[in-house]
Amino acid sequence: MEKIPAFNPFPAFAAAATDPKHLLPTYQLSEKLHVPAYLEETYWWAYLHPNAVKFFERQWIVNLILWGNFSQLRDAALAEIGDELQGRSLQVACVYGDFTPKVAERLAADATLNVVDVAPVQLENLSRKLGGRSNVFLHHQDSTRLTFEDASFDNVVVFFLLHEQPAGARDRTVAEALRVTRPGGKTIFVDYHRPVASNPFRYIMLPILSSLEPFALDMWRKEIADWAPKGIPVKAVRKETYFGGLYQKVVFER
Ligand SMILES: C[S@@+](CC[C@H](N)C(=O)[O-])C[C@H]1O[C@@H](n2cnc3c(N)ncnc32)[C@H](O)[C@@H]1O
Repeated sequence: MEKIPAFNPFPAFAAAATDPKHLLPTYQLSEKLHVPAYLEETYWWAYLHPNAVKFFERQWIVNLILWGNFSQLRDAALAEIGDELQGRSLQVACVYGDFTPKVAERLAADATLNVVDVAPVQLENLSRKLGGRSNVFLHHQDSTRLTFEDASFDNVVVFFLLHEQPAGARDRTVAEALRVTRPGGKTIFVDYHRPVASNPFRYIMLPILSSLEPFALDMWRKEIADWAPKGIPVKAVRKETYFGGLYQKVVFER
């Protein structure tokens, strides 16, 4: 006898429950992991408070914070990984705006993107933002002690994280990003940099960074390459600056 399907007043929700395209990327929270003190004390208003996510998760706001340079800087990072992203890639820390969706759009059929963040609220936000993607994996991890194997990624990208970290954490993030990149792969950093003397933003950003982002001026004083550990072989290091030197992209070719 033919089976009569049960009446369902919400067919769209039924589809969402069974179609893998509608499943959000999931992740396991680690009880052993704690939000670092610098994030809690200095950046709670930007990344940890639920209202922070509601406020900052707007493309125009992240673009304004970077003085209209968000897309150029995002695309500078994307240019390093090419039009079609092969193999395994890692993004160290979530980013507001369309950075991760744009990386994910470039994934080749069998490629994967892994994103780590230490703040559960950020992973939750990214999961929502990505919608149903079976090739993106989120991980609750600290950038200073990643649990991935050595040389386990083809590309590793770190977008505007280093300037938010105090010196010790920053060194370890650079070392970890390089450690997990395979020989022949790329480790890409995009972040603040010391503007040239004729750039008016040098004088505008100095009080802003000094008061709101206490570790950021280290990016003006030192090269990212100076934070790389000597023991990890690197074939080449390239640096490009943008917007009168206020921003930089540094690429380590492993
Ligand atoms: C990538 S940075 C800044 C990105 C950029 N300013 C933006 O527009 O979002 C911000 C992220 O870094 C994360 N984060 C900070 N310290 C971390 C750490 N030690 N390990 C992993 N994630 C970290 C924060 O939770 C936050 O989601």
